[in-house]
Amino acid sequence: MHKPIKNIVLIGMMGTGKSTVGASLAIKTGLKLVDLDQRIVEKAGLTIPEIFREKGEASFRDMEASILDSALEEKGVVLATGGGVVLREENRRVMLDKGLVIALKAAPEEIVTRVGEDDNRPLLAGGARERIMKLLEERKHAYDFAHYMIDTTGKSVEQVTADIL
Ligand code: S3P
Repeated sequence: MHKPIKNIVLIGMMGTGKSTVGASLAIKTGLKLVDLDQRIVEKAGLTIPEIFREKGEASFRDMEASILDSALEEKGVVLATGGGVVLREENRRVMLDKGLVIALKAAPEEIVTRVGEDDNRPLLAGGARERIMKLLEERKHAYDFAHYMIDTTGKSVEQVTADIL
C-alpha cells in the first residue's frame, strides 16, 4: 500500500528559500510550519551567532539533531531546516524515514544576492561571497539524497510552492 506522507522536509543551501517557501507551503497545504533554526533559538535562548560563538558549531549540530528528531515525531508538519542539517548521516536517515524530502537549489549568484551580508549566518562571517562559494563546493552532493530536487533560480516563492504541490 502507498505510504501516506506524514511530513514535508525542505533541505538546501542557505538562501535557497527553505523558510519562505515552507511558510507558503504550510498555508497552501494546511500543514503546520516548523522552522528548525527558530526552534533551536527558542530552546537555547540564544541567537544562532551566539550559539556558534559561545558553545561552538558542534554543540549547535547536537541541538539541531535532537530538535530534528522531536520535530519529525509530530505529524503533518512542513519542516524548514538549516542548510547544514544534511551533514550528519543520522539526520539524513531520519528525514528520509519520517518525511518527503524536497531539496531546493539555486544558482550560486542568486544565493549570494538573496543572502547578502547576513549577520545572522555565522558560517558566512568574513566575506559572504567567498564563504558561499566554498560551502557550495564542499556540499556539492550533500542534498542529492532528497526524494525531489527543485531549482528555484529566477522563481518566485509562489512558483516554487506550486512546483512542490
Ligand atoms: C547553516 C545554515 C543556517 C543555520 C546555521 C548553519 C549551514 O540555516 O542553520 O547558520 O550550515 O548551512 P539557513 O540554511 O536557514 O540559513
